[in-house]
Amino acid sequence: MVERLATTCGPLELANPVLAASGTFGYGDSFERFWPLSLLGGFVTKTLFVAPRDGNPAPRVAETSAGMLNSIGLANVGWEAFVRDKAPRVNALRGRSRMIVNVAGNAPEEFGEIAARVEADRDVVRCDAVEVNVSCPNVKEGGTNIGCHIGQFRDAVRRVRAATTLPIFVKLSPNVADVVPFALCAADEGAEGVSLVNTLYGMQIDTERRAPVLGTGSGGLSGPAILPVGVHWVFKVRAALPELPILGIGGITTWRDALQYLMAGAQAVQVGTASFVNPHACPDILAGLDRWCASRNVAIRDVVGAAHRVGEAVEEPVWTG
Ligand code: FUM
Repeated sequence: MVERLATTCGPLELANPVLAASGTFGYGDSFERFWPLSLLGGFVTKTLFVAPRDGNPAPRVAETSAGMLNSIGLANVGWEAFVRDKAPRVNALRGRSRMIVNVAGNAPEEFGEIAARVEADRDVVRCDAVEVNVSCPNVKEGGTNIGCHIGQFRDAVRRVRAATTLPIFVKLSPNVADVVPFALCAADEGAEGVSLVNTLYGMQIDTERRAPVLGTGSGGLSGPAILPVGVHWVFKVRAALPELPILGIGGITTWRDALQYLMAGAQAVQVGTASFVNPHACPDILAGLDRWCASRNVAIRDVVGAAHRVGEAVEEPVWTG
């Protein structure tokens, strides 16, 4: 299995292209009783701030017909507790699996501050990269307030870049008219790659209570419903910036979903909501990819971007309304 599935995403060498997504995997040790963490190509921690946060009022999750709404509000233990209590444990478990720490702040300056903390503690934490979360839809400050406004976005990425030499992947929001300019801006500011997409704004109404289900009203939609959205944006970003490494995320439930992202142009994928439904989703997807590669005698890295027909222009839809 090892050789067929080995791949790279920018500077990250991965034993395989399956990573666990931020916010669905704790700090790396949540699935310990189900399967060994070392099976994964990598994992992304829950978003970390410098200081701990309680997050949003309950209810914070709701099931929808084809996915899940969440409004966690970036609850986290804070950087210090992560370094002290979580990182040593997860390092003992992870083997070659890559650790990506996801970070955020309430303002661009705070993105720089948390990145500086990561840089200062990098030898203790032993993380391989930083994912910059400028796309959480559930917070009054930071999140999409930064990630959907190009000036703020640029400022936040620039500050992270100035604070650390670790590889940075900027996690992009789908809640904009066009994701490509944000990917371009991340690359311009020196990011090694992008992760896309985060969740889409959504709301569910409890018709008996005549009120939104989530404590905050709206939340972020994930799960199978958003698979085509993520695949679309990965395809578009890859077409516009063929050299920019991409971690594809959004609605991956099966190995075939993962393959769609890889063929659209992602070098690796992150699996999120599926793990709440099936705690074995990540190893199941991995096994499916391995079977598919073996049956066709191909290596996974050879299928990256395969859906782009070289030399053929992909036609944009024409608006006729
Ligand atoms: O609310 C949350 O913690 C979600 C985070 C995100 O979507 O980035």
